[in-house]
Amino acid sequence: MPKRALPLLLLGLVWLLPQAALAESQDAGAPNPKRLEALLYQDCGSCHGMTLRGGLGPALPQDRMQALSPEALTHIIRHGIPGTAMPGWEALLSEEEARWIAEHLQTDNRLKTLDD
Ligand code: HEC
Repeated sequence: MPKRALPLLLLGLVWLLPQAALAESQDAGAPNPKRLEALLYQDCGSCHGMTLRGGLGPALPQDRMQALSPEALTHIIRHGIPGTAMPGWEALLSEEEARWIAEHLQTDNRLKTLDD
C-alpha cells in the first residue's frame, strides 16, 4: 500500500464509523413506543410539563389534541411553530415517529382532559 494512502484510509474510517452507528440507530424500523413515550413525557415535557399540564408551552390533553387532525399534529411536531419557542423535531423524529406521538396524544394520552 502506498504510504500516502494510510491517512486517507484512516480519514475514511473516521467518517464511516459514525455513519454506521447512525444508520443502525435510524434503522430501528417501526417506531419504538418506549423511546417515543420517554421523549414525549421528558423532552416535550420539559416545556409542556412532565404530566403535559403545561409550562412554557401549553397543556396537551387528549381532548384538546383531538381538535387537530393527525396530519396537522404530525406537522407541528416535525416542523415546530415558527416564531415561537416550539421547536421542530425532524432531526430526531422520522415522519412515522412523529405520527406515532401525534396518535398517542390523541388516543393514549396520560392526560385526558384539564376539566377534571
Ligand atoms: C422549548 C420548549 C418546547 C419543547 C421542548 C416542545 N414544545 Fe411544543 N410548544 C412550545 C410552545 C411555546 C408552544 C406554543 C407555541 C405558540 O405560541 O403557538 C408549543 C406548542 C405545541 C403544540 C400546539 C398546541 C396547541 O394547542 O396548539 C403541540 C401539539 C406541541 N407543542 C407538541 C410538542 C411535542 C409533541 C413536543 C416534543 C416532541 C414539544 N411540543 C416540545 C414549546 C415547546
